[in-house]
Amino acid sequence: MTSLYPDEMAEIYDAMYQSFIDYNKEYTFYNKLLQKSNPKSILEIGSGTGNLAKHFIKNKQNYTGLDYSKSMIGISQKRNPDCNFIQGDMRDFNLEEKVDAIIITSRSTSYLISNNDINDTFNCLHNNLNTDGVIIFDFIDANRFIPYIKENSPIVHTAQHKGINYSRKSSWEVSQHDNFLLEWTAKYYSDEIDDSKAIANDYSTVRVFTLNEMQLFLYLNHFEIVEIIDRKTYAYDTFVIVAKKKS
Ligand SMILES: C[S@@+](CC[C@H](N)C(=O)[O-])C[C@H]1O[C@@H](n2cnc3c(N)ncnc32)[C@H](O)[C@@H]1O
Repeated sequence: MTSLYPDEMAEIYDAMYQSFIDYNKEYTFYNKLLQKSNPKSILEIGSGTGNLAKHFIKNKQNYTGLDYSKSMIGISQKRNPDCNFIQGDMRDFNLEEKVDAIIITSRSTSYLISNNDINDTFNCLHNNLNTDGVIIFDFIDANRFIPYIKENSPIVHTAQHKGINYSRKSSWEVSQHDNFLLEWTAKYYSDEIDDSKAIANDYSTVRVFTLNEMQLFLYLNHFEIVEIIDRKTYAYDTFVIVAKKKS
């Protein structure tokens, strides 16, 4: 796996994403879906720097965050000192107590590269859920994203945070390997986009999915789809899926 968010990247990520994503709206969106099954406990996977966590804590929900990156966990724990964050891998983790709902937001599923990664993750989610537990997650729609990057690369996203202007210039190459893998190069700048003044570079292999393959992965891992939502986010066309654990 790509080395995810070392210290410096985690801080830049945190600054930029607070401009890209309205976490208030994001919380309202996911919490509305969650409340349809009235979960008593919620796990967020890929909890990042704890921006969504903040809202769950404020509303006194029984929330736990899990993330692979130590630096992301460090920032989220500082932001939410009383909250429980676990450093772990969504493909292989064991909660002390099972939960009623698991969410994976902000396209964190893009880091599941191989079919094994996806099957291991869904299997793990199944094992860590109570009976009738639900999962809610989003993913980038390959059918719309691949044509988009072919016509639009590189793509610049800008953000303002604490008086600093940030930009991120992204290029995606469709990989020669299996599946819908993309090689993502992101260069980060503050103030002007000048390659000699880039403040950070990030390279990751990410995967985008078709709705059909995701439906099949869920079926194979004993989840029943309850709802599919077609959702545009700040940069991507995504699907959000709500699925229930089958016994
Ligand atoms: C795009 S960020 C989203 C962060 C957060 N949800 C937000 O909205 O700000 C993806 C997150 O997924 C985490 N991640 C990637 N692969 C993971 C894995 N295998 N297990 C757990 N977390 C993972 C990364 O460390 C990162 O924090």
